[in-house]
Amino acid sequence: MKKDLGSVLALYPTPLVVIGTMVNGKPNWVLAGHVGIMGHDHIMVSLAKAHYTNQGIKETRALSVNIVDETMLKKADHVGCFSGNQTDKSEVFDYSFGTNGAPMIDMAKLSMECTMEDIHETKGFDNFILTIDHTYVEESILNEAEKINYDVFKPILFEMPGYTYLKTGETIAKCMTLGK
Ligand SMILES: Cc1cc2nc3c(=O)[nH]c(=O)nc-3n(C[C@H](O)[C@H](O)[C@H](O)COP(=O)(O)O)c2cc1C
Repeated sequence: MKKDLGSVLALYPTPLVVIGTMVNGKPNWVLAGHVGIMGHDHIMVSLAKAHYTNQGIKETRALSVNIVDETMLKKADHVGCFSGNQTDKSEVFDYSFGTNGAPMIDMAKLSMECTMEDIHETKGFDNFILTIDHTYVEESILNEAEKINYDVFKPILFEMPGYTYLKTGETIAKCMTLGK
């Protein structure tokens, strides 16, 4: 028997990312689990309006979306605990600049350099709609066909109800091999 929990947000787990942008001339990093795919060429990041990061995204329109794996989880968690409104997080990660001026995390195995195209506001949130300008990937997580091997990469997932990080990395089946 199913219980109706009401209007509960339950679309988890989600990928976990660190967003990087320049705010007042310095990089700022924020951890986000509320991310999504829009069509085949846009992604969305949902950030609370009070976050320090939002100023930088609005001013520069340039940001990086760095997927979190276990090697960067501790630092990623840290930038989710403290706000740039009170704490200078600029030195948490070593970084390089993307072509659009967004700070990109050196230790991230996968970083997307993005441009903010639009903002869809919902109560208390700026939902940033992004185009992906470049995707930089560590060669160690590419297969022979130069495709990203998520079994090797093992991105971390996030779930809100238990407020935990989950592992990935086990393939169950190739898509469209089970139902045919
Ligand atoms: C696991 C985890 C996931 C988070 N996901 C989001 C998110 O998707 N959206 C959001 O607005 N804040 C999210 N946060 C909260 C921000 O990372 C946190 O408030 C941060 O301090 C804001 O930093 P800033 O003010 O420097 O931008 C998350 C925090 C944690 C620990």
